[in-house]
Amino acid sequence: MKIPLAIVGCGGMGGRHLLGLKELSESNLSNVELVAVCDLRHDNAQHLADEAEQLLGHRPLVFQDLEEMVRDVPDLQIADITTDAGSHHAVACTAFDLGLHILAEKPLGLTVRCCNRILEAQGRCGQLLSVAENYRRDPMSRLTKALLEASAIGDPHLFLDISASSGNRIIITPWRHQKDRGGMLLDGGVHNADMMLYLMGDVEQIYARIALWEKTRYKAREGGVAGFYERWAGEMPDAVEATAEDTLASVITFDSGAMGQWTQSYAAHGRGFGHKVIYGSGGSLIPGGIRNGTSPSLTLADGEELSGEDLLDLVPDFHLDAITSELFGGDRMASYAMPFPAADRKLLAIEIHELADCIIEGKNPEVDGQVGRKAVAICYAAFESSSLNRPVTLDEIEAELVGDYEADINALYTV
Ligand SMILES: NC(=O)c1ccc[n+]([C@@H]2O[C@H](COP(=O)([O-])OP(=O)(O)OC[C@H]3O[C@@H](n4cnc5c(N)ncnc54)[C@H](O)[C@@H]3O)[C@@H](O)[C@H]2O)c1
Repeated sequence: MKIPLAIVGCGGMGGRHLLGLKELSESNLSNVELVAVCDLRHDNAQHLADEAEQLLGHRPLVFQDLEEMVRDVPDLQIADITTDAGSHHAVACTAFDLGLHILAEKPLGLTVRCCNRILEAQGRCGQLLSVAENYRRDPMSRLTKALLEASAIGDPHLFLDISASSGNRIIITPWRHQKDRGGMLLDGGVHNADMMLYLMGDVEQIYARIALWEKTRYKAREGGVAGFYERWAGEMPDAVEATAEDTLASVITFDSGAMGQWTQSYAAHGRGFGHKVIYGSGGSLIPGGIRNGTSPSLTLADGEELSGEDLLDLVPDFHLDAITSELFGGDRMASYAMPFPAADRKLLAIEIHELADCIIEGKNPEVDGQVGRKAVAICYAAFESSSLNRPVTLDEIEAELVGDYEADINALYTV
């Protein structure tokens, strides 16, 4: 059985989802069919349809309007939303009201209120919602999680996630520097937040400072993200004025009682830096890489270091699910070797497969709307904490009891 799906948003990520669909179509577990593409920009939609014809052997129908698409393709079931972050809530609410299930790219919504509006629309309509969080679906993330669950480092006490990069260059697209369209601390930070949730469990509160250091960003000399945005390189301005903060430093308390430090700068000049590590009562664990196949790295309290195949002895029950096993070539692995684009499209194939499987089997997706909202709420808890100069709890944020920082954005979108 193949569930009819439409890609809504035919920019860089729409193209990557198409590559994910191609990967899935070549597997033994193919369960979707691309029947339509939709974008406000007709040229982007036409281009993606051309690419789809080449890759999949049939041309999806092209639309600029969701309602027209559903009218013309009445058996459509999934809207795969890959529009930019600022439009997710409008597109998702419309798609739910039109009776579609949704796979939404991260962040689920531009603000916490946007996420709540999407969840309300889902409540009205009862369709499924899955957030396309690809990082946790990497086999190396799955192994990291299995090691934590097997108490390989005892009780996790301290989580450190610190990174700094990018200087003053425009990161991928100009909208990623605009507060009202989803700045990098949301667009990139929500991945960190989801991995925090996945590995450490729910966040109780955050105390943070955010700052905008690089007020003007300049066009990068080389194209970004493995050439996925090449087509739009000519549209990139030489410089953009940034309105979204680019640097965050925070202290986090998890529901488990563990503590964390999350610091992320997209305005760091000089040598880039990125490190994640979890310390527990029995050792430390560096999570496995995302889309690079690097094994997790474990150091026990007595100094013994374990990585690669040796880790599998600690998790005898660790098995990847059927689609991940098929695409990555095995149901137990401690590393893998493939280029970024290959790993990228496999992870996208896995998340698309999961939603279709949930529709067929009547199950709820792993990263549903509640989980997707939590990840956005972690980012906004940091932003609101900085505005209020006090720790902010996740409960306050999700219930919209605190929301000064996001109020300006919500006013623009009248959500
Ligand atoms: N998971 C990941 O690793 C990853 C990586 C990159 C981007 N993303 C996410 O994918 C999404 C898209 O990012 P991108 O880099 O492709 O952006 P983009 O700007 O390249 O493309 C967005 C596309 O959406 C279209 N669009 C905007 N509003 C629309 C609407 N209302 N209806 C139909 N089409 C509309 C635009 O015309 C454009 O073609 C974002 O949410 C981003 O965070 C995820």
